[in-house]
Amino acid sequence: MLVGFGSYLPERIVTNDELSERLETSDEWIRGRTGIRQRHIVGDGETAVSMASRAAQRALDFAGIDPLEVDAVIVATSTPDQVFPATAVRVLHDLGIPNGFGFDVAAACSGFIYALSSADAFIRAGNAKCVVVIGSEVYSRILDWSDRGTAVLFGDGAGAVVIRASDDPGERGILATHLHADGATGDILYIDGAIGLPEQSGHLRMNGREVFRHAVGKLTSAVDEALQSAGLSYNDVSWLVPHQANIRIIEGVARKLQLPMERVVVTVDRHANTSAASIPLALDEAVRDGRIKQGDLVLMEALGGGLTWGSALVRL
Ligand code: COA
Repeated sequence: MLVGFGSYLPERIVTNDELSERLETSDEWIRGRTGIRQRHIVGDGETAVSMASRAAQRALDFAGIDPLEVDAVIVATSTPDQVFPATAVRVLHDLGIPNGFGFDVAAACSGFIYALSSADAFIRAGNAKCVVVIGSEVYSRILDWSDRGTAVLFGDGAGAVVIRASDDPGERGILATHLHADGATGDILYIDGAIGLPEQSGHLRMNGREVFRHAVGKLTSAVDEALQSAGLSYNDVSWLVPHQANIRIIEGVARKLQLPMERVVVTVDRHANTSAASIPLALDEAVRDGRIKQGDLVLMEALGGGLTWGSALVRL
């Protein structure tokens, strides 16, 4: 069961107009093509670890769970502060979790779905009873700030959920997760770099049109799969909480599902694309403002570099 929700956004907000001062772009273009109005960008001292720890602490506070009860921390990130120790292991230390294990998941923008699915598997196998799943990203560090095709799309932030095994095998909890990957499409969205290869830029590179072309179809089939496996239909879905990459992709999927936008949680306008952090950030916002309530059927989907994509169906 998902019992805790938390998030953290850097204080500094960068508007489209501010970007237009440095890049040949405009608020009108960015809003029209993506729905993005602004993004949060890390300041001094804000890192993947610090944001992950803040979001996770808030999620534990929400759930009223003591760090002693946590068995594992899984962090989805493509922008860790270090290759190792894993972000998750630093978070275990920050939160004072003495007996846990932790690791990072690198599945780009689908990372949260991959991490959620992993946590669910550990719990179902009886290897953990309480897992904190976090998405934390510092994309501002890997963007080529001179490339208007990518620099305007992303932001920084972190979101977290606490998942707990339930003694009551009732209807609440993670009902289905489905994960996919296709390495043949690896060159349409990737980071040009690796540790120890200094001739590479280390920047995110993307063929936006190609990514867009794959997105709606793959996401729609991933959510179809989720509903079919649970024996449910679109009409049963209370909320769609999609990865927040582009409002046109989100609207495209909602249209195919015949879900009105009133039942879709949208944060891309204020957060931009925070990659693996976008779904838990959106979840936290909608739970705290009362839109998503206990008993609601929540459908999540994401697609990212790899390509990787997937879906998760959860009864809160
Ligand atoms: N401001 C102004 N013009 C821009 C621009 C910007 N920030 N970025 C690109 N352009 C220009 C291009 O240079 C191009 O100009 P040209 O026709 O003179 O060559 C024109 O806009 C169209 O570019 P194109 O890339 O074809 O635009 P598009 O309609 O495909 O929109 C995206 C670009 C990136 C918004 C869109 O492809 C997209 O959202 N793709 C999915 C990306 C995504 O979600 N990635 C993350 C997945 S996790």
